[in-house]
Amino acid sequence: MSGNPYQDDRGNRDRSIANPLGVGEVDGYRESGEVKPAPGKPFLSAEGMVGGYGGGDILHGCTITVERGEIAVIVGPNGAGKSTAMKAVFGMLDLREGSVTLDGRDITALTPQARVREGMGFVPQTSNIFTSMTVEENLEMGAFIRADDFRATMEQIYDLFPILRDKRRQAAGELSGGQRQQVAVGRALMTQPQLLMLDEPTAGVSPIVMDELFDRIIEVARTGISILMVEQNARQALEIADKGYVLVQGANAHTGTGRDLLADPEVRRAFLGG
Ligand SMILES: Nc1ncnc2c1ncn2[C@@H]1O[C@H](COP(=O)(O)OP(=O)(O)O)[C@@H](O)[C@H]1O
Ligand SMILES: [Mg+2]
Repeated sequence: MSGNPYQDDRGNRDRSIANPLGVGEVDGYRESGEVKPAPGKPFLSAEGMVGGYGGGDILHGCTITVERGEIAVIVGPNGAGKSTAMKAVFGMLDLREGSVTLDGRDITALTPQARVREGMGFVPQTSNIFTSMTVEENLEMGAFIRADDFRATMEQIYDLFPILRDKRRQAAGELSGGQRQQVAVGRALMTQPQLLMLDEPTAGVSPIVMDELFDRIIEVARTGISILMVEQNARQALEIADKGYVLVQGANAHTGTGRDLLADPEVRRAFLGG
């Protein structure tokens, strides 16, 4: 397989899927056509997030940061607010307090669609594909904000997930769980995001399929795309994480490198089953 920018085992460091200028023009930010440097700030910085769904706060001062090309993983018990934190970062939840910056730009007030234009891609935990549409139609839907030719991006996604090329004319709903998750990830990659957010991408798949998906996610990160991922398979996810967050009751309980968290006796006992 040639020309796959995700496969860097032969030294290929092509970053073409990660458009460094984002997609299209965004008012105010890039009038000069240059990406503004963000000295001292992580690429994504979601700081002190407080908010919920109206009936009270779920997030109580949660902070998540991700550097460029880094894999950051959020783990924690059911109901801890992991999905809520992801929605807050993506703009699906109004924050009462806190801010979100991407590449130094304050995006706290932007809609999810505007955040996609700023370089975010999001794969939600549920309902993340259009089951009655074909695989290829799902990818086309993913390109909704693009006015340019997205065939090359689609080919890159087919190189990353070859089974999707084989099944491109099939309804996505007919695919296996692992293949559907590939469709969902591929759909989010169609906008050439700089930050890819994944909420439990391996939910309900076998250990072998999980390993396979993690390998593909590592490949994506190696192209320079930052990954922010929520995972139930905490141990395996922390093994591939540059940075891990343990979230408990909407707040940061533990933060460290994946390795540190895996070695931390308290984290092991309370969250990794010993
Ligand atoms: N749409 C919603 N409306 C009201 N409450 C919600 C909604 N979604 C989640 N919650 C509540 O927010 C809390 C955190 O949920 P969630 O972020 O989904 O947790 P996690 O992803 O860590 O399992 C839970 O108590 C859940 O019941
Ligand atoms: Mg969740």
